[in-house]
Amino acid sequence: MPSANDFIIQEQCQLTADVYLLKLKTTAKLSGYLPGKFVMVALPNELFQLRRPLAIADCQAMQGQLSLVYRTVGQGTNLLASLKPGVKLNILGALGNGFTYQSLTANDQVLLIGGGTGLPPLMFLAKTLAQKGCQVTTMAGFRTQAQVFGTAVFQASGKFLLATDDGTAGIQGTVKTLLDNWSANCRHVYACGPLGLLQTVQKHFADCQLPVDLSLESRMGCGMGACAGCMVSIGQGDLNQHVCLEGPVFSAAEVKL
Ligand SMILES: Cc1cc2nc3c(=O)[nH]c(=O)nc-3n(C[C@H](O)[C@H](O)[C@H](O)COP(=O)(O)OP(=O)(O)OC[C@H]3O[C@@H](n4cnc5c(N)ncnc54)[C@H](O)[C@@H]3O)c2cc1C
Ligand code: FES
Repeated sequence: MPSANDFIIQEQCQLTADVYLLKLKTTAKLSGYLPGKFVMVALPNELFQLRRPLAIADCQAMQGQLSLVYRTVGQGTNLLASLKPGVKLNILGALGNGFTYQSLTANDQVLLIGGGTGLPPLMFLAKTLAQKGCQVTTMAGFRTQAQVFGTAVFQASGKFLLATDDGTAGIQGTVKTLLDNWSANCRHVYACGPLGLLQTVQKHFADCQLPVDLSLESRMGCGMGACAGCMVSIGQGDLNQHVCLEGPVFSAAEVKL
């Protein structure tokens, strides 16, 4: 059951010009903080009525430690970036369904594909699957070298393939270029990133029988299924589902992008 808990900022590290790693700690008992789930962060300023959704980038539940990685895109995330260690944040979590990986076993090959701020949930997933003994390959796409983050986490978890639009790091191209040159077998594919990336992954694996998990973003109000602000269409019957409740992770075989 999700709960709202107070966390104290331990560290605020700038990873790139506009991406930050926020390390938090709580004395509350954390349950259900699993890869692919997310939290809703209340900003410590009464001007901000709505919490901001952020993926869980890492969590050591027993120690009450939580990491979030976010890009400053608007007023809320810019306020977040200005907060110093010691500041208290109220965080609602863990929300959503998370990635499906429970049936994987040691030595299973898995492929993770992400771009930009789609990478934070994959950081936690890569670490978790590597701890399970899976053979993890991560493909990441960025515009340019200066925007690259998360390399150390992905390299520590397995194989890391990088593409940048301008070729300043990794190969020149996108995750599509990496996918087109990739032929290894795998048991499960996971992707998170901009719509174009998710569409590429969905199309690339459309004729395979592989399970493909896509983690979606949607504008969110409540994060708990109450405001209907985050609906997507699923399956043959165009069933509407909440990204915040039934998602954010959906099967590529079912979700309409
Ligand atoms: C499930 C989920 C996980 C996410 N995980 C991450 C992450 O790990 N790292 C990261 O950098 N970003 C992530 N995002 C996007 C992040 O929530 C937005 O960038 C952030 O809310 C923008 O807030 P703002 O006040 O700076 O921007 P503003 O544009 O000023 O926000 C105005 C309002 O729109 C909402 N909003 C704006 N953009 C988005 C968006 N893309 N998705 C949902 N709501 C939005 C805000 O919550 C706020 O209520 C995630 C979004 C979702 C839905
Ligand atoms: S964000 Fe309110 S229903 Fe999903």
